[in-house]
Amino acid sequence: MYSIKALQEIFSESLSDQQFKQSPAELYDPVRYILSYGGKRLRPVFLLAGCDLFGGDIQAALLPAIGIELFHNFTLLHDDIMDQAPLRRGKSTVHQKWDTNIAILSGDTLFALAYQYLLECEREVLPEVMEVFTRTAIEVCEGQQWDMNFENRSDVSIDQYLEMIRLKTAVLFACSLKIGALTGGADDAGARSLYDCGMNLGIAFQLQDDLLDVYSDEDIFGKKTGGDIVANKKTFPYLKALETASSSQHERLISLFQRQTDDDTAKVSEVKEIYSQLNIREHTRDAMNDYYARALQNLESVRVDDQRKGILVSLIHEMKDRTY
Ligand code: IPE
Ligand code: IPE
Ligand code: MG
Ligand code: MG
Ligand code: MG
Repeated sequence: MYSIKALQEIFSESLSDQQFKQSPAELYDPVRYILSYGGKRLRPVFLLAGCDLFGGDIQAALLPAIGIELFHNFTLLHDDIMDQAPLRRGKSTVHQKWDTNIAILSGDTLFALAYQYLLECEREVLPEVMEVFTRTAIEVCEGQQWDMNFENRSDVSIDQYLEMIRLKTAVLFACSLKIGALTGGADDAGARSLYDCGMNLGIAFQLQDDLLDVYSDEDIFGKKTGGDIVANKKTFPYLKALETASSSQHERLISLFQRQTDDDTAKVSEVKEIYSQLNIREHTRDAMNDYYARALQNLESVRVDDQRKGILVSLIHEMKDRTY
């Protein structure tokens, strides 16, 4: 059994050993750039921990874990174009540092490279790995499209929001844990429980990301705070605020989230003031904790020795307190 730190180190070392091509530089420099500025590497670490849970050899899971991280970084390059984000991992986003076409194409390359790495799975699990990965990639795109559609809508429900984040974020956590389970030799029930665990974990993770987008310290978070408010994103904090607002607060929120303003700073501080009157931080944390608890329940139902579950349990607890 490994510690979280050991898994992180093994993964990071293995990722930094990879040699990506040099030419054309405009295509591969951004690939190296996005991979070199940290990132928590959560999805590959969950994949490795999922493999270890069933007593599998994590060396056999390293290449698919790299594949998952490459896919995640592809989604970030394209997401930052769509969200017009200036900052990622404390650095300029690729489309700002280079340009949008470069971010599109190096993102596409990361997506194709992800397949190349996932194809290195053990033969007997490859069809199932490809099935879940391909389905996940399509679902992430669906979620991203809902996320953008919602920017221009004022009738989004919390259920629709939860379905949107299930698709854009949670399925990749689910997929990572399932691929880990498969490479670790899990049976169908085990692989299914880990998939469900990842789904609940991913929903909790995105609820937390929405909250950090409002309240985090930008230097630690590494992304522009208030970005979701500026972009009229229909996040949990916003939808929960609408649900609990007085009629004047409701009217104001709807009006603030209907257009672009010249003064983003004033908009962000007015929205934050309403959130604080409505205890939105606490409501969002409650919802997040509920999904983390569901993830732990899914893990409990896996039929392996409780001792083996230690890493995943601590990983989940560590995530709850993240500040970036
Ligand atoms: C960012 O994911 C995208 C979301 C789903 C919110 P992470 O917060 O895992 O990003 P890195 O890889 O650690 O930078
Ligand atoms: C992330 O949603 C979803 C994907 C990248 C697929 P966000 O747009 O909230 O992610 P961040 O906050 O920019 O990392
Ligand atoms: Mg974004
Ligand atoms: Mg986005
Ligand atoms: Mg976000």
